[in-house]
Amino acid sequence: MSRLIIYYSQKGTTDLVAKTLAKHLNADLVRISDLKNRDGLKNKVFGSINAFREAKTDIVPQKVDISNYDTIYFGSPTWSGKPTPAILTIIDRCSLAGKDVILFATMNTNRADTNINRLEEKVKMRGARVIETFAISTKNKSPEQLINDTEAIIKIKDLTMY
Ligand SMILES: Cc1cc2nc3c(=O)[nH]c(=O)nc-3n(C[C@H](O)[C@H](O)[C@H](O)COP(=O)(O)O)c2cc1C
Repeated sequence: MSRLIIYYSQKGTTDLVAKTLAKHLNADLVRISDLKNRDGLKNKVFGSINAFREAKTDIVPQKVDISNYDTIYFGSPTWSGKPTPAILTIIDRCSLAGKDVILFATMNTNRADTNINRLEEKVKMRGARVIETFAISTKNKSPEQLINDTEAIIKIKDLTMY
């Protein structure tokens, strides 16, 4: 079973979730960087608007070769109840026909569900079969708590099966 985790993380919490998943699932990792400056309050507002409008952005790497993997994870923070521009940009560049996909979202307190619903629509449009989804609240959590929460989800969702 070969697994690849493709994710975006601005502040590091989704990065920690992705790295914990990768460690326990023996998965490869690709972190997508957004070349737009997303720092500071003004850019946070623009980020929210960009996410709400599902704007694309400039990313690195520009493409990911997923051909050698059976199961692809896509992970994104929740921005305005939506996926981040970087993750939507990379999804639109992946051909997911015949791929099993697992989606995960981080959030402060709410609307990871609408983020995941939109991710689900997007990957299905590109041919994926969504086999599992999950959300993790990161608010006020220490790195240890985030690792524990992620390990709990791996068990509850039986992710080693896929
Ligand atoms: C522009 C922006 C919009 C956000 N919108 C939401 C939101 O709608 N709901 C929520 O619970 N958290 C929201 N958050 C919080 C992030 O989803 C949360 O902190 C996430 O864990 C950040 O992931 P990261 O550390 O990998 O960047 C938002 C954060 C940013 C920067």
